[in-house]
Amino acid sequence: MLDQQTKDIIKATIPVLEQHGTTITQTFYKNMFAAHPELLNIFNKTNQKQGRQPMALASTVLAAAKHIDNLGDILPHVMQIGHKHRALEIKAEHYPIVGENLLIAIKEVLGDAATPEIIDAWAKAYGVIADVFIQVEQAMYDKAAWQGFKPFKVVNKRPVSDSIVEFTVTADFPLPKVEAGQYITVRVQPKGEENLSLRHYSICSVDTSTGLKFAVKREGTGERKGLVSHYLHDEIQVGDTLEFTAPAGDFLLAESDKPLVLVSGGVGITPVVAMLEQQVNQNPARPIYWVHSCFNEKNHAFKAEVETLLEKAQHAVAHIVYTENAPRIDVNFVKQHLPQGSDVYLCGSIGFMEDVLAALKESGWAESDIHFEPFGPKMSVVSV
Ligand SMILES: Cc1cc2nc3c(=O)[nH]c(=O)nc-3n(C[C@H](O)[C@H](O)[C@H](O)COP(=O)(O)OP(=O)(O)OC[C@H]3O[C@@H](n4cnc5c(N)ncnc54)[C@H](O)[C@@H]3O)c2cc1C
Ligand code: HEM
Repeated sequence: MLDQQTKDIIKATIPVLEQHGTTITQTFYKNMFAAHPELLNIFNKTNQKQGRQPMALASTVLAAAKHIDNLGDILPHVMQIGHKHRALEIKAEHYPIVGENLLIAIKEVLGDAATPEIIDAWAKAYGVIADVFIQVEQAMYDKAAWQGFKPFKVVNKRPVSDSIVEFTVTADFPLPKVEAGQYITVRVQPKGEENLSLRHYSICSVDTSTGLKFAVKREGTGERKGLVSHYLHDEIQVGDTLEFTAPAGDFLLAESDKPLVLVSGGVGITPVVAMLEQQVNQNPARPIYWVHSCFNEKNHAFKAEVETLLEKAQHAVAHIVYTENAPRIDVNFVKQHLPQGSDVYLCGSIGFMEDVLAALKESGWAESDIHFEPFGPKMSVVSV
């Protein structure tokens, strides 16, 4: 554990480091990738350009340092990040690399103010924080359904909306039982790319009798076209092989008798349709409120599948919001249509999550009833 003097130095320097958070992070990544170009095979280059993940990593180290007296306070966040790290095959040996480059960045940004005592205190604090992550992640590796990336064969590819394609993949080993809300992580190297790219995709059915199913939205166009989603849509066909790590994630249906509200935006429907399937199979008597928002009917994924599942539920109410000609989900919608005191599970883009979370909070929903998974870094939606 850390001595009091070290803790005092950490607490005294957090505010100034927070002020320089963006510069520290940019310096950190620049140095780290120059020294360890192999890490470009793990980090998402587009996230780097957009600045979301860089802020998430740096701000989380600083936030963790604030809780240095009791890191247990931030355990749920560590678990959530740990799932992503485990899915990306981040291992104990990667932590010193991040630590070393974080310290170099702190030195560069603080200049003469970075005394040996300050650097030493941060080295110790990072060591303690890293150990917590390493332990949590080791437990996740121990429980994973398989280790490392395993090859899967694409046995089906079908459009489920005008921009979303569903893939079914099988392995040469028996598939594990999957839980609604989990995601798998694909590793590909699109033509012309120097590095590998890793992306998470939610499993969209808990029925794995014909294989694992996931659905991918074609993201962006022209200069902004998403690297992996376009590659999967355009290049990957039935018979091809894709590599995945084992299912991960903590966006899971908790046992409860309260009504269940499932809210999704666009392709955010993927984990939520699996939750609907799991729920109606396990307990069709639980009241379900299904809310899905997308641009228009052509964009509406899994429409027929959801209708069939909702018919199995004994009490189901559905609201479909086509934003082409209706207002987005806001506080009025929440107050009018969603019963407070239910468990709500929501998924979608970062922007969608921010809107719906704000509407739920403004309508007085308890945070403990709200479960969500943004299709991007979660730490850009929550604060530690
Ligand atoms: C837990 C989790 C589960 C997920 N599940 C699913 C799922 O089930 N289905 C699904 O489709 N996705 C899912 N995602 C998202 C998925 O992992 C990818 O992020 C998504 O497919 C985009 O990857 P990409 O390589 O195509 O885009 P990237 O190249 O990573 O680009 C990301 C975004 O930035 C935009 N962009 C690219 N270049 C620029 C630029 N120069 N300027 C501005 N914007 C730019 C792209 O259009 C895209 O919207 C999930 C994400 C998470 C974290
Ligand atoms: C204590 C140290 C660390 C902290 C606090 C931390 C924090 C984070 C956070 C907050 C996220 C975003 C999670 C989300 O998407 O919801 C993240 C993602 C990620 N982390 Fe870490 N991390 C640490 C160590 C590492 C290490 C050692 C590596 C590997 C060298 C690593 C690689 C990644 C990658 C590749 C992602 C996915 C995002 C992307 O590709 O841009 N992290 N981390």
